[in-house]
Amino acid sequence: MLGQSERKGSRVIVCHCHRVSDRKVARAVADGCASLRDLRRECGAGGGCGACIPVLRTLLPDTGAPSVPSLRETPHEAA
Ligand code: FES
Repeated sequence: MLGQSERKGSRVIVCHCHRVSDRKVARAVADGCASLRDLRRECGAGGGCGACIPVLRTLLPDTGAPSVPSLRETPHEAA
């Protein structure tokens, strides 16, 4: 049984300081953002405490960051 968030299409807030979701970051990347600076300028993500920066790096293309499971994968799916 799907929860309400799955029915509507779930999203994860990746930057709590600026309430930026993974979808908004993905949209910004699709629109050409290729760096943390671009993301900060486009949607504010990463412009506060900085705690989200490791996650933002994984969502950017070709950052050289180590691969981590998708935010949408459960630990079982990522194994
Ligand atoms: S959580 Fe993104 S800057 Fe604080």
